[in-house]
Amino acid sequence: MTKKIKLLIIAGARPNFMKVAPLIKHIRGYGGAGEKDGVRLEYRLVHTGQHYDEKMSDVFFGELGIPAPDINLGVGSGSHAVQTANVMTKFEPVCEQEKPDWVVVVGDVNSTMACTLVAAKLGVKVAHVEAGLRSYDRTMPEEVNRIVTDSLADLLLTPSADGNENLKKEGIPDSKVKLVGNVMIDALIANLNQARASSLLKRQELKPKDFVYVTLHRPSNVDEQASLTSIMGELKRLAREMPVVFPIHPRTRKMCAQFGISLDDNKGMRILEPIGYHDSLSLTENARLVLTDSGGLQEESTYFRTPCLTLRPNTERPITVTVGSNKLTTLGGLSADLDAVLKRELQFGKIPEFWDGRASERIVDSLVAY
Ligand code: UD1
Repeated sequence: MTKKIKLLIIAGARPNFMKVAPLIKHIRGYGGAGEKDGVRLEYRLVHTGQHYDEKMSDVFFGELGIPAPDINLGVGSGSHAVQTANVMTKFEPVCEQEKPDWVVVVGDVNSTMACTLVAAKLGVKVAHVEAGLRSYDRTMPEEVNRIVTDSLADLLLTPSADGNENLKKEGIPDSKVKLVGNVMIDALIANLNQARASSLLKRQELKPKDFVYVTLHRPSNVDEQASLTSIMGELKRLAREMPVVFPIHPRTRKMCAQFGISLDDNKGMRILEPIGYHDSLSLTENARLVLTDSGGLQEESTYFRTPCLTLRPNTERPITVTVGSNKLTTLGGLSADLDAVLKRELQFGKIPEFWDGRASERIVDSLVAY
């Protein structure tokens, strides 16, 4: 007799989309057409609507070949409490109606935590993809989301061994934890050819290894006038030496406008609208340096062995520093760190274990074997 396993897969914000894409692809292709060894996998994709702009959401569905969501909760923006509560109240009836065997959440955004809370209270099992990451900095909203999600999840799927160690320290039994590798790298490898066909470098007249790719959107960097002013000043200085390509997140654009910081778009400083996945991979592979506060870019630059400076006091992805090409920096140290990288003093790193394009396969196998 065939056993059916029904999954509700949650995606809410931009960094979730490249994590659910390989997973869905693997579920659909499980055993050829969703069935293998007496197990039939069924899924529904729920988009919470945390990110809703075309450039923050739809573009990624198109590029990554993600099927249109079965359900869109349409929650939109709001304070943390409002956004989390909206996801919860809208997801609860969906979860009751769909009666899944598992709710599968990815990453660490508000939607991840909100759907986990709902499922846990309804007695539905939760699988967390990208479990165990810790920055040990609770001023970061994502750290709170990670702790809550991991403490409630039934199956914790980690991208690297440090995740397993963190969960052990928190008393989570080994039987719930499985090292599966980095699912973002599955997406990266699957999209490499399309990324290499991107015309962005040409359109921007950029030469490989002769520009800096910048992304900054963390509240700790952009929500305070003094920090944001000083960061933008540093970027303008850098842009006099080498082109700085800065696709700007809506939060950062909004804060610049609020603080009266001009977004000079000139030969050196290229301020762009948010870019798609393939263009972003192309910039990451070809940049002389990535300067970021994003979690995903720390990993993608590690894969490409592109030097990366992360403008944060800590990272939940320490393997990108110990094994990869990442280095943490501060506002005070940024100028010297930039100079060092431009003089090629930063090491290029290695690709961590299990970042091999097969994480989604291991995730699905872990769910089936549970
Ligand atoms: C969220 C995640 C963060 C992730 C980031 C990636 C949380 C707590 N934060 O941060 O972990 O790194 O996404 O982008 O879940 N906005 C738009 N259009 C959109 C979405 C947002 O204009 O499609 C604007 C709104 O003004 C909103 C602001 O951006 O107030 C912030 O959006 P929000 O989803 O609250 O947080 P992010 O900063 O995007």
